[in-house]
Amino acid sequence: MEIVLSGIRPTGNLHLGNYFGAIKNFVRMQEENQCFFFIADYHSLTTHPKPGDLHGNVKQVLAEYIASGLDPEKATLYVQSDLPETVELYLFLNMNAYLGELERVTTFKEKARKQPDNINAGLLTYPSLMAADILIHKAHKVPVGKDQEQHLEMTRTFARRFNRMYKEDFFPIPQAYNFGEALVKVPGLDGSGKMGKSEGEDNAIFLVDEPKVIRKKIMKAVTDSGPTQMNQQKPEVIENLFNLLKIVSAPEVVDHYDRLYNQCTIRYGDLKKQLAEDVITFTTPIRERILEISANNDYISKVARIGAEKARESASKTINEIREIIGFRHF
Ligand code: ADP
Ligand code: TRP
Repeated sequence: MEIVLSGIRPTGNLHLGNYFGAIKNFVRMQEENQCFFFIADYHSLTTHPKPGDLHGNVKQVLAEYIASGLDPEKATLYVQSDLPETVELYLFLNMNAYLGELERVTTFKEKARKQPDNINAGLLTYPSLMAADILIHKAHKVPVGKDQEQHLEMTRTFARRFNRMYKEDFFPIPQAYNFGEALVKVPGLDGSGKMGKSEGEDNAIFLVDEPKVIRKKIMKAVTDSGPTQMNQQKPEVIENLFNLLKIVSAPEVVDHYDRLYNQCTIRYGDLKKQLAEDVITFTTPIRERILEISANNDYISKVARIGAEKARESASKTINEIREIIGFRHF
C-alpha cells in the first residue's frame, strides 16, 4: 500500500486555497492509502509566534482538518512536534544540504525579502525539515498545492543523495500528487494571484468566515471597468474571479457569466453575488462542524494523542534504521 503524507503550518485559519489546493485531496486519499496528515508547528516557528497563539492555532487547525472531512479513524492525524524523530532526521539531512541550493529556493528568497530582519537558519533549512517530515514515514505521495513543488523537488534531491551516499535503496522518491490532475492554484480576491493568509485581510475567504463576511469580501474583490470588445481575452483579475466561480459553482453558472462577458453585457456585481452565495453554500456545513468540534477539547486531545502514537510507531522504526545505516550503533 502506498504511503501518503502532507501537512499545513498552523499560522491561521484555513481558507479556500488550502481546502481546494490540499485538503480536498487529503479527504479523497484517506479512502485508499495509508495516510499521515499533520500540523507543521515546528515549521511555524520561523515567524516567532507567541506561545499561546501557537497552541491555539494548532488546536484550531486540527478542528478544521476534521471538520473538512479528515477522518481520524482512516488517516493518522498528528501534530509535528509530537514526533521529535523528525528533528533528528532534519539534523542528518542538514549535514548534506548545501548553502547554495538552499539559498536558491524561491520561498526562501521571498521570505528573506518580506522579513529582512529575521532571515533565520530555520527559514534557510525549511526544505530539509519538510523533507524530514516526508522521509520519516518513507512516503510515496505528497498531495500539496503548486507552490510546494520546489520543496518536493528538494526532498527528492535529499532522498537520492542519502540513498547514493549509503548505497541503499532506502528512501522511496516521493512525488507530488493530485489524482493526475494539474496542481490547483486558487486565486485571491485582491488581484494578487494567489489566495493566502499572509496576503492581507481581504484576500482570503476562510472556512470559518460568517456569510456576511464572505459577502463583504467578495463584493470588494478587485475588478476592471468591464469588457469593451466582444469575445476579448479576460485580464488576470477577471480570470481570477471566473476561476473562483469554476471552483464553487455549477458549470451552467460559469457558462452563463462567460457568455455575458463575451457579449460585453456582464455586470460584475451580479457575478459577485452569485459567487458569494455559492461559496456560502459550500462553507456553511464546514463552518458549523468547526464550531462544534472546537468546543470539544476532550475530543481534540484524544485525536491528537492517538495520532501521535500511530505516527511515532512509524517514525521510530525509520529513525532506528537510519541510525544503523549512518553508523550510530549500540555498544
Ligand atoms: P498560505 O499560503 O495561506 O500560508 P500555506 O502555505 O500554509 O497557505 O498552504 C498550506 C497548503 O495549502 C499547501 O499544500 C498549499 O499548497 C495549499 N495552498 C495554499 N494556498 C493555496 C492556493 N491559493 N491555491 C492552491 N493551494 C493552496
Ligand atoms: N511547507 C508546507 C506549506 O507551507 C507545509 C509542510 C511542512 C508540508 N512539511 C510538509 C507539506 C510535508 C507536505 C509535506 O504548506
